Amino acid sequence: MTIEATWKALATHHAGVAGRSILSLFDDPGRAAAFSAELAYEDGAPASFLLDYSKTNLDVRGLALLMDLARAARVEARRDAMFAGRPINETEGRAVLHTMLRGAPDPALPAAWTTEVIDTLRRMVTFARAVRSGAFAGVGGAFTDVINIGIGGSDLGPVMATLALAPYHDGPRAHFISNVDGAQAADTLRGLNPATTLVIVASKTFTTIETMTNAATVRDWMQGAGVDAAAQMVAVSSAGDLAAEWGIPPERVFGFGDFIGGRYSVWGPVGLAVMLAVGPEDFGAFLDGAALMDRHFRQAPLDRNLPVLLAMVGVWHAQICGYATRAVLPYDQRLSRLPAYLQQLEMESNGKRVAMDGTDLPRSSGPVVWGEPGTNGQHAFYQMIHQGTRVIPCEFLIAAQGHEPALAQHHRLLIANCLAQSEALMRGRSLAEARALMAARGLTGAELERQARHRVFPGDRPSVTMAYRQLTPFALGMILALYEHRVFVEGVVLGINSFDQWGVELGKELALKLEPLLTPGADDSAKDGSTRLLLGHLRG
Ligand code: F6P
Repeated sequence: MTIEATWKALATHHAGVAGRSILSLFDDPGRAAAFSAELAYEDGAPASFLLDYSKTNLDVRGLALLMDLARAARVEARRDAMFAGRPINETEGRAVLHTMLRGAPDPALPAAWTTEVIDTLRRMVTFARAVRSGAFAGVGGAFTDVINIGIGGSDLGPVMATLALAPYHDGPRAHFISNVDGAQAADTLRGLNPATTLVIVASKTFTTIETMTNAATVRDWMQGAGVDAAAQMVAVSSAGDLAAEWGIPPERVFGFGDFIGGRYSVWGPVGLAVMLAVGPEDFGAFLDGAALMDRHFRQAPLDRNLPVLLAMVGVWHAQICGYATRAVLPYDQRLSRLPAYLQQLEMESNGKRVAMDGTDLPRSSGPVVWGEPGTNGQHAFYQMIHQGTRVIPCEFLIAAQGHEPALAQHHRLLIANCLAQSEALMRGRSLAEARALMAARGLTGAELERQARHRVFPGDRPSVTMAYRQLTPFALGMILALYEHRVFVEGVVLGINSFDQWGVELGKELALKLEPLLTPGADDSAKDGSTRLLLGHLRG
């Protein structure tokens, strides 16, 4: 079947099953085993990563058609082209090789790239050891604090991973400044000692206005306190020349090639803040977890391949069922920044309106991704997920164990809540059940009917659950690589370039032109009425 014929077959299949209850699919006792997949791993103890997608309206035929679609889109060939270093980022003529940062060197790839990656990792490890041991110190002694200044891919990954790995922290405290809003810089710097603070300026391009503005502010803060800022700053960038111009010596510039996209860069020098916090060994385990997922993605058959399955379930929900958003709901407080990280990973990658060849996309692109950790979200927006008029597919993440053995009861409640939500979403509560509840409370007649209708849950709301042993560095690496490859597969199936981000440019250009118009008396006559009104209101 051609790719378009497969899309059509999926639409026809969906029309035929749309009214079916998900719960009825469990009449088949083999349902859960057939619509789940596992990946065994070793992380201190043998463990297994489980992807359960049985609480969806997919059946054998639907899944087979989705696999046909993946094959018709040539996912495997595209995947192999990515790992082989072909320039699959076609609008920028670049290879896509973030996987090099965490894998064994591939002899087929250019030796210069491999050498650069290995050397940089070695330099990072040496540097991290020196900082953590105090051998490389600030003017006031061993570094107590590290500030990472970056935005987007130069911030979200390190922020998310540093928080996720809090139980492993034994290095200096980590802080992050990303927003050009001076409030963040002011709040972060308050209470820090410039003489024992290390500053990482992380910017692939070293031109991003937010980062360069924040870096200059922090440099002034240090110099204002009599600290030689250049001696306590490092740069993480592909533009070593610009970092040198800015005053950071080459021995403290950690570079990476243009085959590492910003939102895929936490595995390399952009992850330096993480390595400083948890140490090179745990950072190595983080890379190893991702490498395991890479191998699985390359080797597992499509219908047992976790990233492929996750992606194709996503395609089913977003493009076939037409659900416009997807909630990511980690029942893991330390993954509270995962949704924000995934927003960039997924929406900057797959939020495109044209296909690779420049033609209009014939269907919707990736969904809006959002979420918050459970159980907090349950007391905020879950009302809408359960009873709103829109269907929102949910993605739950849960560990079998926490890091707080003394608080085991907390973790039991956490797991129970996670499982209760996916069950409630699928099962719902019928009008008859709601009526019985109201009758048991003594209501009768019209009042019983009215109250009962408010207590109906439509059910049939799909969800996917991912379960792992514990949120270790290894497990975090697996989870992030799983999501990266899922984004890749979705992009291939949609026929878009997941590795450029032209959509961020226009706003940046206009901001540069708008900034001078904030000066009182500036001529804003070329602007539209709304923008002029707002400028008038906001001019200082
Ligand atoms: O504006 C979007 C973006 O280009 C992201 O893709 C990137 O992660 C971020 O800005 C930061 O860019 P840089 O690392 O070059 O400062």
